[in-house]
Amino acid sequence: WAVFAPYVAAINTLKKEKNAVILAHNYMTPEIYHGVADVVGDSLALAIAATEVEADIIVQCGVHFMAETSKILNPAKTVLIPDLEAGCSLAESITAEGVAEMRAKYPGAPVVSYVNTTAEVKAASDICCTSANAAQIVAALPEETIIMTPDQFLAQNVANMVPEKNVVWWAGSCIVHEQYTAQDIRDFREWHPSTRVIAHPECPPEVVAEADFSGSTSGILDYVTRERPEHAMLVTECSMASNIADQLPDVDFVGPCNMCPYMKKITLEKILWSLHAGVMEVTVDPDVADKARHAVQRMIDLSR
Ligand code: 13P
Ligand code: SF4
Repeated sequence: WAVFAPYVAAINTLKKEKNAVILAHNYMTPEIYHGVADVVGDSLALAIAATEVEADIIVQCGVHFMAETSKILNPAKTVLIPDLEAGCSLAESITAEGVAEMRAKYPGAPVVSYVNTTAEVKAASDICCTSANAAQIVAALPEETIIMTPDQFLAQNVANMVPEKNVVWWAGSCIVHEQYTAQDIRDFREWHPSTRVIAHPECPPEVVAEADFSGSTSGILDYVTRERPEHAMLVTECSMASNIADQLPDVDFVGPCNMCPYMKKITLEKILWSLHAGVMEVTVDPDVADKARHAVQRMIDLSR
């Protein structure tokens, strides 16, 4: 912490001077999560928080699609991201043309796009979803066939939860969660039988099937807080366990984890520079933003 303290102090002072707030995803490193964030949460919580920001500047500590979502939902604000190259393998896997291809293949089926998409893909979709509400959104739509983009694994997990729907999907995946296998979980359980296994729904369905619980990053925190297992294996990005370990000292976080190289592009040093110089601004074409807002707002309204 000694090494981080001067950055934390400088960022917190600059935030006040510039009338800025920091929205940080649960996968940020602990010094960001605990040191400088004003709001922490999963994608859904951060999107809702963005609608409520009154400050002039939002510094999005997360990946680019999250900053775009904040700009879409609160266009009057200046939205900064400390590194414009903080992308996402899911967001990069599909374009608006891909959405059109799916519509041509499944005429009449609505498109539910994960928030892990560009503004253009959101604008081409009927409604968005996050990992926290995907099953709820799909179940609420009247059509039987539902197109989910771009996460094939989230779509397959939703298909298992909402069997009355015919869910079809785009073949994207998260480079962090696709690496886990069911065998990893079985091997770990054999070695450490009392471990509670908690998997993010971006994991393949056979991994989710081996888990005791599956949910969004905030869902994972709620589950561990409520259940207080003696040992917990979080089948997700590494910072998740690091961020919550201190507030749950009675839970022993065990097992391997995978790092998201995009999330890890955000550092205290870059946050300080972005705030100081007012750089790495995220903008969205207003026409695209209007259409995308409709899809994101529809999701927020449906999940309240
Ligand atoms: P959550 O919405 O569960 O936080 O996950 C989003 C995600 O994929 C972050 O990379
Ligand atoms: Fe994208 Fe996966 Fe990284 Fe989340 S963890 S930002 S889904 S690559």
